[in-house]
Amino acid sequence: MVEVKSMKQLFTEEQIKQRICELGAQITKEYAGKEIKLIGVLRGASVFYAELAMRIALPVRFDFVSVSSYKDGTESTGRIQIRKEPDEPVRGEHVILVEDIIDTGRTLKQLRGLLEDRGAASVSLAALLDKPSRRVTDLHADYVGFEIPDAFVVGFGLDYAQYYRNLPYIGIVEV
Ligand code: IMP
Ligand code: MG
Repeated sequence: MVEVKSMKQLFTEEQIKQRICELGAQITKEYAGKEIKLIGVLRGASVFYAELAMRIALPVRFDFVSVSSYKDGTESTGRIQIRKEPDEPVRGEHVILVEDIIDTGRTLKQLRGLLEDRGAASVSLAALLDKPSRRVTDLHADYVGFEIPDAFVVGFGLDYAQYYRNLPYIGIVEV
């Protein structure tokens, strides 16, 4: 287990779930009459993904991608490698890419490009958290849970060196 110096709660489980309900309702309204291919970015998006999927009242099919961008720490390597592509073709699908947090924007920008190249009918982006002050790309998400300042956060799927993903709340850590 990797210890941290301090942990301060930023969003409670109740606040997060309430916000995800709102995002699910918005997606349900905006995609009315369509089927959705929900593509989660492993591993951080897993908890948000499950909560969001259950709040969308439309036909939804699941798929996942996996990328490596961060080393075991808080600093980005700036290099994104796609480790796992979607299991099923995305051609003609209305894809919503689901990510835990947008930092520089490099991960989602590259993944969106990949899905568009594979012929998705549409690709929109959903992220539980967004740190707009850290952006180095022109990426803009369609569905964002909360905008946060430039701090390192864990919980609700987000990790520090692979730990703390299972916290039911989001906390700011000092490492
Ligand atoms: P981006 O490509 O720079 O937007 O990086 C997004 C990825 O960085 C996310 O999927 C996370 O894995 C990781 N990340 C960025 N900020 C944090 C954080 O505060 N806590 C945990 N992971 C983070
Ligand atoms: Mg991630």
